[in-house]
Amino acid sequence: MSAGHIDGPRAATQDAARALFADLTGRAPDGVWSAPGRVNLIGEHTDYNEGFVLPFAIPHRTFAAVGTRKDDRVRVASTFADSAVEVSLDELGSLFPTAAGSAPSVPEWAAYPLGVAWALQRSGTAGRGVDIAIASDVPVGAGLSSSAAIESATASALDDLWDAGLDRTALARIGRSAENEAVGAPTGIMDQMASMRGEVDAAIFLDCRTLEAQLVPVGIAEAGLAILVIDTRVEHAHSTGGYGERRASCERGAAIMGVPSLRDVSVDDLERASTLMDDVTFRRVRHVVTENQRVLDTVRVLREDGARAIGDLLVASHASMRDDFEISVPELDTAVEAALAAGAIGARMTGGGFGGAAIALIEQEAVAAVSDAVTAAFAASDFTEPHLFTVTPSAGARRDA
Ligand code: GLA
Repeated sequence: MSAGHIDGPRAATQDAARALFADLTGRAPDGVWSAPGRVNLIGEHTDYNEGFVLPFAIPHRTFAAVGTRKDDRVRVASTFADSAVEVSLDELGSLFPTAAGSAPSVPEWAAYPLGVAWALQRSGTAGRGVDIAIASDVPVGAGLSSSAAIESATASALDDLWDAGLDRTALARIGRSAENEAVGAPTGIMDQMASMRGEVDAAIFLDCRTLEAQLVPVGIAEAGLAILVIDTRVEHAHSTGGYGERRASCERGAAIMGVPSLRDVSVDDLERASTLMDDVTFRRVRHVVTENQRVLDTVRVLREDGARAIGDLLVASHASMRDDFEISVPELDTAVEAALAAGAIGARMTGGGFGGAAIALIEQEAVAAVSDAVTAAFAASDFTEPHLFTVTPSAGARRDA
């Protein structure tokens, strides 16, 4: 992975990772690696149904300052935890996999990097002990994939230091293994793929069945537009509750339709589906099936007509998540409604739902007006004040130093 230019706020985060490493070890790291969070432009809860997604990496990054040790211990430290966690490489196999439905036996933040080390080991990569110091400016619990950013930064570092020689897609799979089996969150692979494969100015059109990825230029800035993130500050976690239930409903729907996954159900099959299953399962299925079609339509519209033309697809996606998949919350609905009322071209919740963030596609000159309108709507509903910031499609995982 090549070194890259780092702008102001990101440089401070890299410095924090280096300083933490120095505190921990009294020396300089062998290198610093980083990986971004993501927003998803469209295609929600389609990844684990082997469907289509269109995320992009955001400027916010997680930095891992890493150095090898002479022994076989792995020590991880993070600026958002008081103390480091240390285990031997041999012990990783007894920590993971985490039994389904139970919490990891190390603090959750440490299960991400340790889970990556474990998954690499399991895939046949051997390496000596390492010290890992992590700092991040990806908002945590905001649906912007702070966990995938940790996994991807750690996977990139260990791939280099342990000479694993894995490609980006293989490293994304390692990250997902950590998420699924070390942390116990039954997620798909979208976030890790976005974090590993992100590119400046492009979204990643990913076929989650084949993991074939195409870069789609989004042209948002060229069109005079911006993507505003509205972090509702309603924290969510996918290791508990609703996310796994939605996934189970999708699997049930696919089984009733007699197909391996909902990827194999088309919009034309929906009428028949409605006669075969209960109403709730049918609505879960309808969300996934129509969302897959909306991803395909968004890619086509972006290519043919440009970013200004995708607004209705974003709005339809939000309605489907709110009404059929039932993963929105009042704060997300308020964010979307207030942004649209203030002139946004499109808006939708992004990520797994049950909290987290919404995105709005807006005119560049409307950033202040839409932000003010959303903030006012939150205040009027007595919601916690949201965090608002714009994002541009940014680079994926890399070695910075
Ligand atoms: C979370 C998961 C992803 C994906 C999204 C919903 O971000 O980590 O795998 O399922 O939710 O699209």
